[in-house]
Amino acid sequence: MPTLLVLLMVSSVFTADPSAATEEFGIDEKAVSYSGFQVWSITVRSNGEHKLLRQIIEQYDVEVWKEQKTDKAAITELLVAPQVQRVLKVKLTEADISYGIKINDLHTVIDNGNAKHNMSSLNTKTGHSMDWTKYHRLADIYGYLNYLASTYPSRVELINIGTSYEKRPLYVVRIFNRSSSVVKPAVWIDGGIHAREWISPALATYIIRQLVEVPANEALLCNVDWFIMPVMNPDGYEYSHAFNRLWRKTRSVTSWTSCRGVDPNRNFGYKWGGLGTSTNPCSDVYKGTRAFSEPETFATSNFIKGKASSIKLYLTLHSYGQAALIPWGYNVVYPSDYSDMLELAKSAVSKFTKYRYRVGNAAAIYYPAAGGSDDWAKSIGIKYSYTFELSDTGAYGFLLPASNILPVCQDFFPALDVFAAKVATMKV
Ligand SMILES: *[C@@H]1O[C@H](CO)[C@@H](O)[C@H](O)[C@H]1NC(C)=O
Ligand SMILES: *[C@@H]1O[C@H](CO)[C@@H](O)[C@H](O)[C@H]1NC(C)=O
Ligand SMILES: [Zn+2]
Repeated sequence: MPTLLVLLMVSSVFTADPSAATEEFGIDEKAVSYSGFQVWSITVRSNGEHKLLRQIIEQYDVEVWKEQKTDKAAITELLVAPQVQRVLKVKLTEADISYGIKINDLHTVIDNGNAKHNMSSLNTKTGHSMDWTKYHRLADIYGYLNYLASTYPSRVELINIGTSYEKRPLYVVRIFNRSSSVVKPAVWIDGGIHAREWISPALATYIIRQLVEVPANEALLCNVDWFIMPVMNPDGYEYSHAFNRLWRKTRSVTSWTSCRGVDPNRNFGYKWGGLGTSTNPCSDVYKGTRAFSEPETFATSNFIKGKASSIKLYLTLHSYGQAALIPWGYNVVYPSDYSDMLELAKSAVSKFTKYRYRVGNAAAIYYPAAGGSDDWAKSIGIKYSYTFELSDTGAYGFLLPASNILPVCQDFFPALDVFAAKVATMKV
């Protein structure tokens, strides 16, 4: 019987004592090894093949990294553990489904992806330790935000909007013209909802730097305010650096002691618990016990709600796939102003010169997933709401090498001109 099913059955019968979880925490503390793990890409061209593939995935409890649809095919990328590689090969061959191995040994890629480091040393020339040539730890990122707030008080306000499950501060950076008393329309950008998607906080902090420290970008602050939250899930982010490179969720204790964390992007309060979510605490898409059960999504949503009349554009940064996704994501349903949203997204991605992005309805080009932050933002009246899946398209997936950080960021930044120009025209 598949493990997933066993867990589901047991967890619905017993409710474990949450206080026991801290004692069990020790087993989590050893770094997880992905030695011999592979990433496979599987293309199916008919519903029948797709159904067969889903059966195999469920039977062997294989983790899906990404599932993307095109007109003629569905491409599924899987994380395949060493012990199921042989049987999966047999099953797929029997079903006449072809597959390719995209990453041969995950462990090697993880080791090469980011030099193991703790907090970087302070660069006395820049006054902080960020350099965007590696993926920085939270201490570097938060150090940088504090550095900016004290160095540029005329345009930076560091707002502590709450604390994470493990009591780390949750920071939003407001970038604005402090000497102007006019209330301006605003852009919201967040990164790091999913812990392992390291390119996301890297881009969010890069955007902050461009807006604050590069005088040539000052015009972007003339008519628009910016709220940027570079790391929405700091506990998960640190956990992905220190213990498990592929950690995705928050780190809260669940009813199932050995499985921690809720998928924050299934925990927002619109159509919560619908398609593409799980009631199983061990699942990577576990929705939590209720909408906004996580302190991170709760604090973020409260802050955004408080500014809902001025925030005109909600942008959330994820990886991977190179796609701009438009609500609704809970199912293949299109908002009445979808064409406005599509037009702006197309115009934004047309600024990219190095990477090509697909643009479309989230549920149509990926898969339905309820409780996402983009749907929730749209539901409270923020007209333009997008999820950007950043690079790459699967060569490294979540393990995008650090040498790609600057190319991705530089390619992305000009799209903000398009967003800012649109938002500047909107009435507060
Ligand atoms: C990081 O910190 C740990 C614990 O303090 C230490 O053992 C390790 O050598 C450090 N690594 C680097 C690269 O400095
Ligand atoms: C900031 O606002 C002040 C007061 O309205 C104005 O004089 C100044 O030019 C503004 N600066 C920028 C960069 O927009
Ligand atoms: Zn994500």
